[in-house]
Amino acid sequence: MIANLPPVLVVDDEKNMRLSLSTALQDERYPVKSVESAEEALELLEREKFFMVITDGRLGGMSGYELLERIKKSWPDTPVLMLTAYATPQLAKQAILAGAIDYLSKPFEPEELLHAVARCAERYQLLLENSRLRKRTQEANEVSQIIGESPRIVEMRHLITTVGQSHATVLILGESGTGKELVAGALHSCSARREKPYVRINCAAIPEALLESELFGHEKGAFTGAMRQKLGRVEEADAGTIFLDEIGDMSRPLQAKLLRFLEDGSFTRVGGNEELRVDVRLIAATNRDIVLAIREHQFREDLFHRLNVVQFNPPPLRERGPDIILLAEYFLRGFSSAMNKGVRKISTAARQKLLSHNWPGNVRELRNVIERAVILENSGEIQARNLPDFGVDARLHKGELPTIAGGQSLDELVGDFERNLILQTLEQNLHNLTKTAEQLKLSRHALRYRMHRLNMQTVTEGDDESPHTAGKEIHPC
Ligand SMILES: Nc1ncnc2c1ncn2[C@@H]1O[C@H](COP(=O)(O)OP(=O)(O)OP(=O)(O)O)[C@@H](O)[C@H]1O
Ligand SMILES: [Mg+2]
Repeated sequence: MIANLPPVLVVDDEKNMRLSLSTALQDERYPVKSVESAEEALELLEREKFFMVITDGRLGGMSGYELLERIKKSWPDTPVLMLTAYATPQLAKQAILAGAIDYLSKPFEPEELLHAVARCAERYQLLLENSRLRKRTQEANEVSQIIGESPRIVEMRHLITTVGQSHATVLILGESGTGKELVAGALHSCSARREKPYVRINCAAIPEALLESELFGHEKGAFTGAMRQKLGRVEEADAGTIFLDEIGDMSRPLQAKLLRFLEDGSFTRVGGNEELRVDVRLIAATNRDIVLAIREHQFREDLFHRLNVVQFNPPPLRERGPDIILLAEYFLRGFSSAMNKGVRKISTAARQKLLSHNWPGNVRELRNVIERAVILENSGEIQARNLPDFGVDARLHKGELPTIAGGQSLDELVGDFERNLILQTLEQNLHNLTKTAEQLKLSRHALRYRMHRLNMQTVTEGDDESPHTAGKEIHPC
């Protein structure tokens, strides 16, 4: 028996039949309510929830068939089991055509009844589970889950709510870990398709030979190992959204098929001849340099234009300034409560360290760094020593010219360079401001002013973990 199952509604004008049905069901611990007419049943359905209705076809006033019609209209998710007289197979067929889940010809064995009811109970539980899951994925994909107040993120959130409502194909370009998948999910959640399936395929994770059949399905015997027909993910996504992640890794022949699919939603399964059609909204993403891929003939230019109806470019984390801290605090809240730890804050020195790193792995890297720090932290505040040694990363990038991706201006690039240089010097001098200023041949005031301008927080001399002094007046020299 399934817990918290609402009752079965039994509708029969014969008292004995009502009684024996109720007893058979109650013996199996199904909650039951019974009424003698369709009119009473409709009244009750208005007020209460039932997981199924069992009705006789012939009732005193309104017939069971009419009741079935009304239920299909007003409560389409409530299955109806029709009881028909043995002599009326035609009516039984009609009932199925009108949407009854099943019928039982009288007289029937209790097992037949219980079998039909058990199927409906399972179906009810599945529906419930499905809607719970859908709700959870939707919540995880809400646009409000995209954290950040930097202008490009605010604008991106705004664009997601506008574009989400359209049917437009979307291309999301950005470095690894910048939140492309998050954007795709939020677009689906903002659309009228939000209650429909959201199917995600990672084109890089599926071997090239299998990707076509994964996308468009295959017929039985289409290739060795195709033992039976398989529906494509595009069919699964019908009326919903399909997200093709890492589309830059798709082979050229499959790109041609995708192009055709994008034109009018038509496709054929591998090894099939029938042209099928679905209504699917497509969102694609890649972290590859798509222009370079087109130039090198790895990506079809016509497909790029077809995908590129609306383009999103989640910026690299290093270009989001103080959002780094907002995100760190957001992840901190999540991990701290998941791990049941009382880490609530991030120390000033740790903040500075976070702000000065250049985050090649973007938000994903930050998320991992905070997770690690929460595991290691024993106090109520993340300390700089529990963050990784970003110096290793800085050394890895030492001597490299910054890449001019994502449309950074010269000022921004110089800012990044200046920030990294100051941080390295601070670390060498154990965050002693006077020594750092001396090494950089600046006055202490000038150093503090620059740090303030670069969104770096200043700490008190020589004290790695002391409260920050930002907020005090800072004068340029
Ligand atoms: N603005 C944001 N707010 C909150 N969480 C974010 C944000 N951006 C990214 N994340 C989180 O960072 C992680 C990486 O994001 P996501 O998987 O969307 O990146 P991606 O661009 O698809 O990366 P890849 O190219 O490697 O697939 C996820 O856990 C995601 O939830
Ligand atoms: Mg991704």
